[in-house]
Amino acid sequence: MVYDFSVWKDMYRRRRRRKVLFACLILVSLLCFNMNLFIDVDNKIISPLKNFGQNMLRGSKKHPFVMPENHTPNIKLLNYDDIDPFHGDIMFLVTSHIRFQIRRDSIRSSWGDASRFTKHRLKYNGVNYKVYFQTGYLDGAFQAAKLESKIHRDMLISNRTEDYWDLSRRVMLGFIWSLEHCSFEYLIKTDDDVFYNIPNLFQLIYEDPFILAHKDRVFAGSIYQITRRSSRDLFSKWYVPKEEWPADEYPYFATGMANILSRLVVERMRPHFDWVNPFRLDDVYIGMLVNRADVPRMGIRKINAMNEEFYGKGSAKKCFYLQQSVTQHRVIKKWCMERLTAQSLIS
Ligand SMILES: *[C@@H]1O[C@H](CO)[C@@H](O)[C@H](O)[C@H]1NC(C)=O
Repeated sequence: MVYDFSVWKDMYRRRRRRKVLFACLILVSLLCFNMNLFIDVDNKIISPLKNFGQNMLRGSKKHPFVMPENHTPNIKLLNYDDIDPFHGDIMFLVTSHIRFQIRRDSIRSSWGDASRFTKHRLKYNGVNYKVYFQTGYLDGAFQAAKLESKIHRDMLISNRTEDYWDLSRRVMLGFIWSLEHCSFEYLIKTDDDVFYNIPNLFQLIYEDPFILAHKDRVFAGSIYQITRRSSRDLFSKWYVPKEEWPADEYPYFATGMANILSRLVVERMRPHFDWVNPFRLDDVYIGMLVNRADVPRMGIRKINAMNEEFYGKGSAKKCFYLQQSVTQHRVIKKWCMERLTAQSLIS
C-alpha cells in the first residue's frame, strides 16, 4: 500500500489557513463592534475624528479632546413655567429671534400645526410631532414674547442676548430641556425661515432604508463634510481663525435647515456640552458633539446624491414648491409658508 502523504499535508495546511482566517475575522469584528469606535456614514464605515481638539484653549490636533470640566449651564430659561412638555415622536426646536413673532406665527399655523396632517400621520401609526421655538433675550421685546409664550406654551426664552455667536449655548439648553421634560424619538433642530414638508419628512424618517436600519442612533439632515477652507476667508460670515479650530476639517455636520437626531444621540452628546467655550457656529458645533457622542454603530445619513431633499438655494424666492424636498430655505413670508404647506398637504 502506498500512502499519498501530500494530500494529507495539503488538507492540514488548508485547515490551518482557515483557522487563522477565522481568528482574524473574530478579532476584526470584536474591534469593530465592541469598541464602538465606528460610524456608519451612508454605508461606509469610518471612525470618528477623535483626535480633534475643540479649539486651542482645550487642545489641538495633537491633544485629544478634553471633557469639559464645568457642567453648569451659564444660560437659563426665563419662562420655565409657561412651556408645555411634549410626549410623542418628533419634536422640532426652531431657533428664532425674539422679535420675529410673525415668523413663529406663520409656522404655527402652517406646517407646525400637526392637526392639519392627520391623514399623513395616520399613515405612519399616528405619529405625532410638535414645534418649539427658542429665542434669546432683548429688553424691549421680552414682555411681548412672554405673553406670546403664555398663549402658545411652545417657546423657550433664554436669558442671553440675540448675538449670532451665542446660539450654541441656546441649542444646548434646548437639548437639555427636551431630554429632561419630553419624550420623543427624534429631535429636529432648525430655523424659523425654513419650510418643512411634513409628508416628505415622514417618508424620510419612516421609509428610508438607511434610517430604518439605524433607527434609534441616527444623525440625518442636510449633512455635508466641509473642510473649513470656506471659513478661512477673512470676509466670510463664517470666518473662523486658526486659533479657534486648528484642524483642516470639521466633522460631518448639517446646515441649520435640518439636524435630525435620535434621542440616544442627544443623550450621549450631553456630557460633552461645553458651556464655557462652545464652538460658536452652532451647526458645526452640533456636528462636533455628534462626533464625540459615544453611540455604538451610529448612522450618519448624508444628503442624497441628487441634493434635492434639503433645498437651500433660495428656492423660496419665487415660492415654488419642490415635490421631492423635505425642507425649503429660505421662506420668511407667511403667504409662502402657507402656500407650500397647502401643496405638501395634497401631494
Ligand atoms: C443667565 O443665567 C445664567 C444661569 O443662571 C447665568 O450664569 C448668566 O450669567 C445669565 N446671563 C445673563 C446674560 O443674564
